Amino acid sequence: MSVKTYPVAKSTRGQAQIDAETYQKWYRESIENPDRFWDKHGMRIDWFKPYTKVKNTSFTGKVSIKWFEDGLTNASYNCIDRHLKTRGNQVAIIFEGDNPYIDKKVTYNELYENVCRLANVMKKHGVKKGDRVTIYMPMIPEAAYAMLACARIGAVHSVVFGGFSPEALAGRIVDCQSSFVITCDEGVRGGKPIPLKENVDTAIHIAARQHVGVKSVLVVRRTGGKVGWAPGRDHWYHQEMAGVKAECPPVKMKAEDPLFILYTSGSTGKPKGVLHTTGGYLVYTSMTHQYVFDYRPGDIYWCTADVGWVTGHSYIVYGPLANGATTLMFEGVPNFPDQGRFWEVVDKHKVNIFYTAPTAIRSLMGAGDEFVKRSSRASLRILGTVGEPINPEAWEWYYNVVGDGRCPVIDTWWQTETGGHMITPLPGATALKPGSATLPFFGIKPELVDAEGKVLSGAADGNLVISDSWPAQMRTVYGDHERFIQTYFSTYKGKYFTGDGCRRDEDGYYWITGRVDDVLNVSGHRMGTAEIESALVSHDAVSEAAVVGYPHDIKGQGIYCYVTLMAGQKGSEELRKELIAHVRKEIGPIASPDKIQFAPGLPKTRSGKIMRRILRKIAEDDFGALGDISTLADPAVVDDLIDNRQNRQ
Ligand code: WT7
Repeated sequence: MSVKTYPVAKSTRGQAQIDAETYQKWYRESIENPDRFWDKHGMRIDWFKPYTKVKNTSFTGKVSIKWFEDGLTNASYNCIDRHLKTRGNQVAIIFEGDNPYIDKKVTYNELYENVCRLANVMKKHGVKKGDRVTIYMPMIPEAAYAMLACARIGAVHSVVFGGFSPEALAGRIVDCQSSFVITCDEGVRGGKPIPLKENVDTAIHIAARQHVGVKSVLVVRRTGGKVGWAPGRDHWYHQEMAGVKAECPPVKMKAEDPLFILYTSGSTGKPKGVLHTTGGYLVYTSMTHQYVFDYRPGDIYWCTADVGWVTGHSYIVYGPLANGATTLMFEGVPNFPDQGRFWEVVDKHKVNIFYTAPTAIRSLMGAGDEFVKRSSRASLRILGTVGEPINPEAWEWYYNVVGDGRCPVIDTWWQTETGGHMITPLPGATALKPGSATLPFFGIKPELVDAEGKVLSGAADGNLVISDSWPAQMRTVYGDHERFIQTYFSTYKGKYFTGDGCRRDEDGYYWITGRVDDVLNVSGHRMGTAEIESALVSHDAVSEAAVVGYPHDIKGQGIYCYVTLMAGQKGSEELRKELIAHVRKEIGPIASPDKIQFAPGLPKTRSGKIMRRILRKIAEDDFGALGDISTLADPAVVDDLIDNRQNRQ
């Protein structure tokens, strides 16, 4: 198959900051002499005490990752205070409500006041440096204030996506032992209320049963909807904010002091608390935000992610604000009031840089070009994408229809664990190939390895590893460093294993082929099959469950569940609905099974291991190529699975 290549984009506003030659030169230096390279670029943020040590990292033994370790800084100071002299009256955050008639602009001066007050409120309630604070909020500016207020006083935030269920929220509160929660009465998305406070109340009860006591809940009034109230524990944000000072000095943080925990799904067990620290994270997210999006002062920048995901942390809050950007926070969804919303908002706020996910692009593409064409989109300069491989058809549509063929499509590959962009084009430096994340960012050393760990050279297909550290790398799994080593550094000794499969072409371009572990990517959300399985088996009727992904036109991957029932139970339409509701309750709507197949047995090896390869094939309706099934304990189960498959073409 021939691959179309788009030459390096001619920027619509003069030459981009990094051209092809500069990319080569900087990349070479970053790999040959990382200490010198990062010594220079580490100074892009402000330090109370500059570092003298740059890189101190080891991917072997106990695995230790430290960057700029003797420097002192503060993320909130870098995202706010240092801009006040030059751009105090510039808009920091544009809030665009779910309701298209509601919006709001927050200047850097206002951001400063709000964050300082909130930091003081937290201090008043006893929150101290190192304490974990859970943030369960919709996409409103207060979510960003909460993150930055934590950073200001050295508290470690754990933002939990508002789409997670009370059970999932409780698990995260318990794991990091968080006694302070910031939430909202209700969120609104697509015109529908989301009972966030009610979910928090339920989660607190569940957490209490596990002996984790939440002492205070701070509640932002968003809708004015009725909420339950625990006097002494619950406090209204607006009342508390009015009673404290509008100034709060930022705490001097060591570069390696924790900034936040963000839970993410893996192939085994419960979600892991990915821990990011302060200095390296901020250097790297601000630097990638600047160069990957060719961000220039004055640009209006919009990333459509939710602050509940790492994209929201790095590229709605920390990266853009550290750069003094104007960042847009959108409360709503792409199809409300209709599928033209994104482009309407682009025109309304004159957005220059737009960053979204392939699943959104595919669903809007399906709605038809008219929704795009009724907007001008003349302000757009850069189009970004993240979350999963983008299929070339969606890429072309994004480029040609949304961008009118003028704006480079920047396909950024990275992960919660990597903190920032890893493999990505740079506008003005990189020729584009639809579907390829192209080339590594400065300081990133990708390698492809085969199953035995042999490093492959030239054009090749293998597992993607990163062979040296970068400043925004996660430092540990919160409370479980052993799991960190096991998950990321034990498969291929001395290398960070990404969990992704990848191909490198003859031009050295990287093409991510998707997860090679038992992790699904559903609408750009990462879901562990093990988590969905344990939710299913926690239902009384279920004896065993195996979950696999299958290709889905809009979501990328759909969730396919094989379920064996307890003796005496019968698989019915009603039970299917009940199981779906049960998974939604245990994890959240994002984990809703698309297909449930009741199966009398699962294909297992004689040692009892479920053969997922076979289940994947059947879910894909591609059972002609099941491969060797002779090692199965009971090959006959396969016939039943095929006969009752749910994805029959
Ligand atoms: C996984 C990480 C990083 C923010 C969003 C997801 C997949 C992400 C791309 C891309 C192909 C991608 C990978 C990765 N992924 N971006 N541009 N091309 N695949 O973060 O939840 O940590 O998921 O998303 O499989 O491992 P995450």
